[in-house]
Amino acid sequence: MFLKNCWYVAAWDYELIDGKLLARTILNEPVLLYRGDSGEVIALNDRCPHRGALLSQGRREGDSVRCMYHGIKYDQTGRCVQIPGQDMIPPRLRVRKYPLVESAHLIWIWMGDPARADRSLIPEYAPLHDPKWKGLPAYLHYDANYLLIVDNLSDFAHLAFVHTNTLGGSEEYAFVTKPVVIEKLERGFRVERWHMNSESPPYHKKVIRDKDTKVDRRNHVTMLIPGIFYMETAFTPAGQGGEKGNLQNAREYRNCQYMTPETESTTHFFWAYLNNYEGEDSTISRSLLDSLIEGFMEDKAIIEQQQKTLDADAGFQMLGILADAPLAHFRRVLEKLIQAEQSTAAAPAAAAKETSLA
Ligand code: FES
Ligand SMILES: [Fe+2]
Repeated sequence: MFLKNCWYVAAWDYELIDGKLLARTILNEPVLLYRGDSGEVIALNDRCPHRGALLSQGRREGDSVRCMYHGIKYDQTGRCVQIPGQDMIPPRLRVRKYPLVESAHLIWIWMGDPARADRSLIPEYAPLHDPKWKGLPAYLHYDANYLLIVDNLSDFAHLAFVHTNTLGGSEEYAFVTKPVVIEKLERGFRVERWHMNSESPPYHKKVIRDKDTKVDRRNHVTMLIPGIFYMETAFTPAGQGGEKGNLQNAREYRNCQYMTPETESTTHFFWAYLNNYEGEDSTISRSLLDSLIEGFMEDKAIIEQQQKTLDADAGFQMLGILADAPLAHFRRVLEKLIQAEQSTAAAPAAAAKETSLA
């Protein structure tokens, strides 16, 4: 059960270099992604309508792709343009094409009704468009439902316990910090947390010289439907009034993470962790990327095991604590949107059935 009429991240642009045919299942549908010779990025259903061979195992020819079973060729709109040894091309022989937008190194795909694909609905992340923010894009695959990752990112108390020696820094983080602001949005939520007069966490210490200076740490999170996470982080010298907006000598980060369902129990996870202070020193981006991978592997171990535990007992009911308010809100909003989408999709289908029976 997925929300269809919204934009999902399908890939980073670096995954499509050199005309590669990328096979990626998205929302249970096999999709083929590639950049044609014209530069356009194309998404077609990854199944040849002739006998069902994978187009991703075919051959790219310009902006077109040729199925390497019987050699049928489809152009960038999915239309069949050649059948070896046959002049007549049946109009029904075409592949589904998905609406796609390339923006700031991200490839966004629309899996729902193409007529409703509106580019302005993409929740663009300004730092990805701004060269002052530097960082390296990355991808991880999860053997877990995407909402378990959304849950994980909704409660930063887990930084203290899952990421003590990487992204968190201390167990104290969970005890002494509380979300100072929780804002429920129509399509998501915002949460803000401050950790005052604290040590810099290990991932940050690795890239700064003044490792022992105490800091006030701010994390400000925005989570959006269907699974889009944006976070602003600032470390300001402790006591200077960072919480009142004094960002002098602050070191700041901007983090985007995109959870795209592959299936009900697997997820594509894209992210970038950007900083605005590295200047010419690209080892900082590299170190941050390595630290984030280290941290995310800690999340992945817990979340993938959690998926197994949930699979083992369909009757298990999770019990809430106060910190779950944002994720509970998110799940409620998403469920409503999915229900609304499915009832509008079901209405015309039911009417058509009645007409055909009449
Ligand atoms: S299955 Fe693709 S050409 Fe026959
Ligand atoms: Fe985490």
